[in-house]
Amino acid sequence: MSPPGTPAQHAVGLLGLGIHLPERVMTNDEWAERIDTSDEWIVSRTGIRTRRIAGEEESTADLALAAARAALADGAFEPADIDEIVLATDTPEVFIPDTSPYVQDRLGVGHIPCYDLAGSGCAGFVLALDIARSRAISHGHRVLVIGVELLTRLMNWEDRNTCVLFGDAAGAAVVGPGPDAVEIVAATAGTDGSKSDILGVEAGGTRVPITVERARQGLHKHVVMQGREVFREAVSRMSQASHEVLEKAGVPIDDVALVVPHQANLRILNAVARRLQVPQERVFINVQKYGNTGSASVPLALWEAREQGRIEPGDLVLLTAFGAGFHWAALLLRF
Ligand SMILES: CC(C)(COP(=O)(O)OP(=O)(O)OC[C@H]1O[C@@H](n2cnc3c(N)ncnc32)[C@H](O)[C@@H]1OP(=O)(O)O)[C@@H](O)C(=O)NCCC(=O)NCCS
Repeated sequence: MSPPGTPAQHAVGLLGLGIHLPERVMTNDEWAERIDTSDEWIVSRTGIRTRRIAGEEESTADLALAAARAALADGAFEPADIDEIVLATDTPEVFIPDTSPYVQDRLGVGHIPCYDLAGSGCAGFVLALDIARSRAISHGHRVLVIGVELLTRLMNWEDRNTCVLFGDAAGAAVVGPGPDAVEIVAATAGTDGSKSDILGVEAGGTRVPITVERARQGLHKHVVMQGREVFREAVSRMSQASHEVLEKAGVPIDDVALVVPHQANLRILNAVARRLQVPQERVFINVQKYGNTGSASVPLALWEAREQGRIEPGDLVLLTAFGAGFHWAALLLRF
């Protein structure tokens, strides 16, 4: 570790990557037993076949901690090697404080600064990588970045329009300077706040406080979304962000070995591939196994791509994500 406040001497990038998945697998047929849907409908509209569901005794910090430990082990780090934690989630451990302090305490990293990107939707992890990169460049810090969601706790389990889409998971990365870092070559991000009400949870804040009646309706814990509008924006913004980051890096799309997009829906991923003019085999897809896991989806996909040997040393890998806000972000990595 560099002394605090010392700018990075080496390239800044990923130094470790880890994930954690709850054990319980839920199939589409199980959904069909609960609500008016079918495996055929879910697969044809979303590509999703299964998703993981956290156990009742599991909380956000549990999943985050397990992914964080996996990322530290992957980079051969001890907790004491970490200078800062940034955690992205829409499903916090409690309402106040944010979730990263719980992870800090249980990880035993000492009194390092910790903060959440709360409610940043499915773009949270990639946004957090960009912020971590800046902290690593300016301060020489090693930053633990976590994307974690228990999105199945934020669903109305009777609303077939949303409940079949999501799953629970956590992913983490250590970001910092290092001679062997998976370099973050370039990053971009954006937000369109005029679309804030199209995807989100309506009640529970100061604008729509919880009342007994609203709580009875579950408004404080149910995601609502205009599916078609979200679909269009997701395709458009993930493609736009990809072009932007490639332009910043001065890299043509043909030089990208693998695109790892946020795993929202197979049709969205196919549409992004078409817009980018990238063949299917250069787009990593695992949404069929896990559904949409929000801010955990990109680290989970990146980790699995690496595990499956889809990434070679020297490869350029493009991450692109989109979520509630609307926020979007893209990052170019060199392995
Ligand atoms: C949600 C989504 C899959 C719906 O697909 P769609 O092709 O747009 O479907 P529509 O909204 O036209 O709905 C068609 C019909 O299917 C029905 N339907 C919705 N969910 C269903 C389900 N799980 N099973 C069976 N039928 C369902 C609708 O009620 C509607 O019925 P109606 O025509 O009788 O009203 C699609 O809009 C989508 O993927 N949106 C983006 C969601 C997303 O990724 N969000 C997170 C982004 S980070």
